[in-house]
Amino acid sequence: MHLAGYRALGLPFTYVPFRVTDLGGAITGMRALGIRGLGVSMPYKQEIMPLLDEIDPLAARIGAVNTVVQEDGRLRGYNTDCVGAVRALEELGPVKGARALVLGAGGAGRAVAHGLADAGAAVVVANRSLDKAEALAAEVGGSARGADEAKHAARYDVVVNATSVGMGEIAAESAGQRLGAPLRQAELRPQTPVPEDAMRPGLVVMDIVYKPIETALVRAASRRGARVIHGGRMLLHQAARQFELYTGERAPLDAMDAALREQIA
Ligand code: ATR
Repeated sequence: MHLAGYRALGLPFTYVPFRVTDLGGAITGMRALGIRGLGVSMPYKQEIMPLLDEIDPLAARIGAVNTVVQEDGRLRGYNTDCVGAVRALEELGPVKGARALVLGAGGAGRAVAHGLADAGAAVVVANRSLDKAEALAAEVGGSARGADEAKHAARYDVVVNATSVGMGEIAAESAGQRLGAPLRQAELRPQTPVPEDAMRPGLVVMDIVYKPIETALVRAASRRGARVIHGGRMLLHQAARQFELYTGERAPLDAMDAALREQIA
C-alpha cells in the first residue's frame, strides 16, 4: 500500500519490512539512520512506547503505538488504527451520535472504542471477559456488556467486530504450522460473532478481520441487508493516515486500495 502510494505521487521513498528481535536496537538504528517513519506491528505496539520521545495523546489513552514519525531527531508515536476505523465507518455516514456496539476489548477493540467515542458515538463495549469490557467502557465513557450482547445487534446503529472471531482459518493454519499438526475440520468452520438473525437491513456492520476478506460475519450481514464494511477498509484507512504522517501528503486512496486488494484477494 505504501509503495503504491509513493509511486502514485512520484515520491522518492521506499517502505520495507524488517523482522525485529531487538526493539531497542531497532529504535537506535532508526535514529542513527534518520529513518523518517516506522510502522509497528504485534507484538511491539506497547513495548515501543517507553523508547519514544513523545506519544500522541490518543495513542497514550489507547496504550498502543502502531506508527512512529521522526521529526528533527525526535520520535513521536501515534495510533492510526482508531482513525482507520472511524474513517472506514464515516464513508457510510456520520459516526457522531451513533449508537455503537464494539465487540472485543483487546488491542483492536481498544483502538476502535476510543476512536468511536472521540468521534462522538455512544459506545457499548461487549466482551467475553466482562472485566476487560468494564475497564474499556469506563475509559471511553460508555457501558459494558458480555459477549452475548451481540444478540441485540439490531438495537444499535453500528456494530464492529473487533474480536479475533472469524480469523479461524488463519489462526488454525498458523497453529497447525507451529505444531506440525494437521488441521482439524472443526477449526476451519467459519464463525460469526453476531448471529445472522440478530442483524437487520440498514444496520452498519464492520469487521476488522480482513483475511479472509469475506468473513462469515460479512456474508451473514450482507444476507440480512446490513450495510457492510470489510476489514480491508479499516486497514486501508489506517495506512492512509500513516502515509499522511510519514509524507505530509494526502494519501492516494485508490492506488493504495488497488495494492491492498492484490495482497488480500
Ligand atoms: P487484538 O489485538 O487483535 O485485539 P487480543 O488483544 O488478543 O487481540 O484480543 C482478542 C479479542 O477477541 C478479545 O476481546 C477476546 O476476548 P477476551 O478478552 O474475553 O479474551 C476476543 N476473543 C477471542 N476469541 C474469542 C472467542 N472465541 N469468542 C469471543 N471473543 C473472543
